[in-house]
Amino acid sequence: MARIVLGVSGGIAAYKACSLLRLFTEAGHDVTVVPTESALHFVGAPTWEALSGKPVATGVWESVHEVPHVRLGQSADLVVVAPATADLVAKAAHGLAGDLLTNVLLTARCPVVVAPAMHTEMWEHAATQANISTLMERGVHVIPPASGRLTGADTGPGRLPEPADLYAVCERILAHGTAAVVPPKYATELRAIPEDEGLAEGGLEGRRVVITAGGTREPIDPVRFLGNRSSGKQGFALATVAARRGAEVVLIAANTTLAAPAGVLVVPVQTALELETAVAAAAPGADVVVMAAAVADFRPAHYTDAKIKKTHDADDPDAAPTIELVRNPDVLAGLVARRGDDASPVIVGFAAETGDQDGSVLDHARAKLARKGCDLLVVNEVGTDKTFGLDDNTVHILRLGSSHVIDAGPAPKEQISAAVWDAVQQIL
Ligand code: CTP
Repeated sequence: MARIVLGVSGGIAAYKACSLLRLFTEAGHDVTVVPTESALHFVGAPTWEALSGKPVATGVWESVHEVPHVRLGQSADLVVVAPATADLVAKAAHGLAGDLLTNVLLTARCPVVVAPAMHTEMWEHAATQANISTLMERGVHVIPPASGRLTGADTGPGRLPEPADLYAVCERILAHGTAAVVPPKYATELRAIPEDEGLAEGGLEGRRVVITAGGTREPIDPVRFLGNRSSGKQGFALATVAARRGAEVVLIAANTTLAAPAGVLVVPVQTALELETAVAAAAPGADVVVMAAAVADFRPAHYTDAKIKKTHDADDPDAAPTIELVRNPDVLAGLVARRGDDASPVIVGFAAETGDQDGSVLDHARAKLARKGCDLLVVNEVGTDKTFGLDDNTVHILRLGSSHVIDAGPAPKEQISAAVWDAVQQIL
């Protein structure tokens, strides 16, 4: 049971906050609703009082002897503002405290979740975006608005996500604290698993898994980067299957364009260093970490603020710059090194290998498994026509300390994922 303050500001989506409140109270949480004056134009105080079982106030002049403007924020385990209007977001970003809700936001020391909802033009306005960035930099969890039909006939980003999705994010934050869910600088996307997709497969219920996917990009200047050909499809398939088997999934996605799988919290990142930060934030308390992302081993030593130009040197028309590289951290090796005595989490590495004169694909893979020290290594054979961006894959799954190799594929990446999770579940 947690003490939750549900802030509601004055947008039409206030009606959805009634369902969110119901989900909280049915889960046994103690919820105090703090609407703004304008929120009461959409949903009246009697509704909030009936659903929460508590009186509601909008200003700081009611029950002054209880000092509610300080007590509510101080004693909360979670403050959620849904919907958050452009006005409320602006006030929160600037620390204004003209009513009870904004006072609560200033006194809260617990995780704060803000779910903005407004018209697309207001959401996209530079002022709103700057205010949102300010809140995120301060550690507020911002759940970005969904796209779809708005109040009128128009459509676009601005809708409040469905109450079940907001509820799922809040429960995760309550269960894992601020750090373990999403690094604040990143936006999250969460879509509930449609009932017909079900959780029927089972096998990973109650497990928390972190998966990295895609390929990192290391910026050289504002228009160029060092990247790789990873599409992220295999990592997304792993996330899809894990969610279907009942796991709580955080998917750290480097430069992918794929849709968020149902029931999966997506954390977008770009560089290896961002990926490392996101993994460090999400891994504590995880049962499994799968490193399916292609992480750049090197990055340019210097980022050039201005676009690098061709020089027009008459004496040396072929002059070309040299890009100095430095090593990136090995995220997988770092996870293995930090693992405690309980051998948790189970760590899965991926390897892209080609055979050469020094050995076969499997020879290289065995050496890599021993070197990296993870529990499982999923080995792809790569070549220009293999693996990257395709829907099918062929892999060998190696387990540390065992000579047995599981071969999977050629098969769709979801089927490959099932084989990987089967192997993980054996270890769990
Ligand atoms: N990996 C990582 N951090 C890096 C590079 C790779 O965590 N800086 C992870 C990948 O996500 C993958 C595994 O390590 O799970 C294997 O990556 P790979 O680059 O194939 O292995 P290397 O040890 O870099 O070996 P190689 O000599 O083949 O480059």
